[in-house]
Amino acid sequence: MEAVFLIFLMLSVACGRHHNHHCAHDEIPAPPYNFAAQEYYEPTGHGRRTTSNSYEPIRIHVITQNLAALDSARQSFLMNTLVPAAVSVLSRALSVVRVQGPLRVNRNCGSTWQVAGSPCASVGQPVRCGYMPDGTSAAVADYLLNSLQTCSSCNADGTCNPSSCTTSANGTGVSNADFVLYVTSATTGSCPASAGDGTLAYASTCVRDQYDRPIMGQANFCPVALSSSSSAWEDQLSTAVHELLHALGFSTDSWALFRHQDGTPRTPRGADGLPALTPTLCTDGVTRTVRAPSASTLLVRQERGVIVNRMVTPKVVAVARDLLGCSTLEGPELENQPTTSGSCFGSHWEQRLFPQEMMASTASHNSFISALTLAALEDSGWYRANWSMAEPLVYGRNAGCAWATERCIDSSGVAQDGFCNVAQQDGCMRPTPLMTTDHRS
Ligand SMILES: *[C@@H]1O[C@H](CO)[C@@H](O)[C@H](O)[C@H]1NC(C)=O
Ligand SMILES: *[C@@H]1O[C@H](CO)[C@@H](O)[C@H](O)[C@H]1NC(C)=O
Repeated sequence: MEAVFLIFLMLSVACGRHHNHHCAHDEIPAPPYNFAAQEYYEPTGHGRRTTSNSYEPIRIHVITQNLAALDSARQSFLMNTLVPAAVSVLSRALSVVRVQGPLRVNRNCGSTWQVAGSPCASVGQPVRCGYMPDGTSAAVADYLLNSLQTCSSCNADGTCNPSSCTTSANGTGVSNADFVLYVTSATTGSCPASAGDGTLAYASTCVRDQYDRPIMGQANFCPVALSSSSSAWEDQLSTAVHELLHALGFSTDSWALFRHQDGTPRTPRGADGLPALTPTLCTDGVTRTVRAPSASTLLVRQERGVIVNRMVTPKVVAVARDLLGCSTLEGPELENQPTTSGSCFGSHWEQRLFPQEMMASTASHNSFISALTLAALEDSGWYRANWSMAEPLVYGRNAGCAWATERCIDSSGVAQDGFCNVAQQDGCMRPTPLMTTDHRS
């Protein structure tokens, strides 16, 4: 099981999120900003991919369980309205090389014989996915599992005593699915005691395929934060899409597993098929031994006195340079705090730079999928994006290299455009006030 990612409610009216009446309107370049996704994509030299027959819209199979904390109206809202709407967004946004035949996942092998090609020696721990009220995950049901042969008596030449072998049956699996999502609504220890007080929902990847693409994941919607009221719809939908994107691989656990478009790993693999365990300076300043992504995927270093993570994959860099108007930008920043304690890198875009983005950490009702997140998903090597799903980021548009890379407030106390240097004072949005523009249709 992998780390868990959270989305938080925006609790305070901090600097910078609201239009300030003292901001001069005439400094704001005139809208509209009519930049379709292709504008990010084509002029940067990567070319627009012709649709390949082998990539088709992702099919997400949802399994709901542990809904007892919800009354029947909210159970129905979650199962029949919210999750299908989020699945619909993602199946329009992302294509994959589809799973052939029914989707099943491998059982864990508990121990192996030290001879290449020998079968597994004993059955391992259950594969787990789907949150339970105690915060752990449930064992995946047999119908979703591949068969596994185990042999308890084998020889040095790799042959085994047939009478020591047993083979479990293949499950029936799920047809027409490329990803299985467990959706729960359990009041776990990660959920807040009252609404409006922290975590709305969280999610993670459970199982990946042979190319590391996530094929099974889990999302828990904290019951106290799940609302079927129509005024909450935008927030609820963006939270659901955000969580599904974490489960689909937008996460700290995925950066080291990203692949080039031809399927080769971006980070070199060891004998176990995984990136090497490397002592790494994590964003919280603690050095941990983790499977660190290559420097061609994520740059990690000290800048302006903090540890900065920059995603430096090709399409992500092209989109970020274009958005921020900084042709020398090495790459956009991820949030510089571990998303959950113990994780090494951020799992969100930096809130300070990309507050409107769906994959910023803090929910705002204006958040949407932009070309930045689609670029990261394409640069994973697992997905092709539907670029016409990208909505334009306005905040930070053409703000330049200093704005994108330097401190919000310089050493003499002067705030950069859009930031403020007085606590609780509202800043100005650059280049146009965020809250006066609703980018959803
Ligand atoms: C791509 O996105 C557009 C805009 O939302 C949508 O109309 C179209 O159906 C999507 N394409 C696919 C293949 O889903
Ligand atoms: C399970 O399915 C795989 C792939 O379809 C097949 O190769 C294998 O023989 C099956 N195993 C059993 C025990 O039925």
